[in-house]
Amino acid sequence: MTVALSKRGEVEPFHAMDVLAEANRLRAGGTPVISMAVGQPSDPAPLAVREAAQRALVDGRIGYTDSLGTASLRAAISKHYAEHYGVDVPASRIAVTTGSSAAFNLAFLTMFDPGDRVAIAAPGYPAYRNIMAALGIDVVEIELEGAPFLDADHLAAAYAEKKLKGVLFASPANPTGALVPPAELERLVRTASELDIAVISDEIYHRLSYAGPDVTALAFDNDVTVINSFSKYYCMTGWRIGWMVLPERLVRAVERVQQSLYISAPELSQTAAVEAFGATEELEAVKARYAWNRDLLMQRLPELGFTLAAPMDGAFYAFCDVARLTNDSMEFAQKMLAEAHVAATPGRDFDPLQGHRYMRFSYAGSHDDMVEALERLDRWLR
Ligand SMILES: Cc1ncc(COP(=O)(O)O)c(C=O)c1O
Repeated sequence: MTVALSKRGEVEPFHAMDVLAEANRLRAGGTPVISMAVGQPSDPAPLAVREAAQRALVDGRIGYTDSLGTASLRAAISKHYAEHYGVDVPASRIAVTTGSSAAFNLAFLTMFDPGDRVAIAAPGYPAYRNIMAALGIDVVEIELEGAPFLDADHLAAAYAEKKLKGVLFASPANPTGALVPPAELERLVRTASELDIAVISDEIYHRLSYAGPDVTALAFDNDVTVINSFSKYYCMTGWRIGWMVLPERLVRAVERVQQSLYISAPELSQTAAVEAFGATEELEAVKARYAWNRDLLMQRLPELGFTLAAPMDGAFYAFCDVARLTNDSMEFAQKMLAEAHVAATPGRDFDPLQGHRYMRFSYAGSHDDMVEALERLDRWLR
């Protein structure tokens, strides 16, 4: 029997997931690995979320929902925009998705055709590039070359070289943690609008900023597509639940594609997620621990030779220039895991050109783990 293998399946691996798999394998064999490789909160989902899920399980019936999501979750998300950002987003423009990962697929499929040119920043979250490449979209990587974030001038310069159909950016960003200041975000959105470039704003790290406000791109234009998720601030990675805020004209297209690709996001997670917006006190305590971890890493990583390559304004990442320690961060990460039992992500995931000299450390774990990881690195490097 012939096994068919498409070109699309040749997409780059997500190396952070490979490092995680190796860390899990070592752990299963009894090695006490500390993982700073994956952007995953170590806390469980808020109590009210878990209780709502328990009630739903006892009630028993968990089925498909409307493709765009349950009315109660869409209403809760709409209320969140009014309360947190002071922005009016009707529930009718919200699509609930299977994590923001599914939202990327839906956005790319409904907004772009094969061959369309879409800009992203390098370094940036690897799935943007990998999903678009698999879909035949022409990914235009704008090298930031030390600039903290992608700005209006980068976008205009890339457009001047050749027309762009879209741009996708995140603030706070992965892997840099950089936060785009409100005035710069406004300039970026307005420049895109003037050049007829569709905007996707990945706001998954909102509510995790330490150095300024997290302003939604929707504050500047109703026609941007916003992608967000319960994974990060709300500590719900494994629940696979996220959302999109869509321009009016995109809603039906997203609904049609979602009907066929996913039918709907899981009902259990949707029911539970309604409670997440009420858990601010619990979640702010988790965020305070990230801030404590951040202070420690900001001080200790440079002392160990991991030069900070970005300001650590938000999310829970330290993006480090490791050129003083290696010129092959992939090999360095493997060795660090095998010998120091600390997992971190090689920069290659985020930037195929310059990634060999960078590494990303996630500080979403416990404070004790951060302290221990830094001690191990100190011993290992000596
Ligand atoms: C910038 C960014 N966007 C999206 C995602 C995907 O998150 P999820 O599919 O869990 O919502 C991640 C995960 O690490 C991320 O860092």
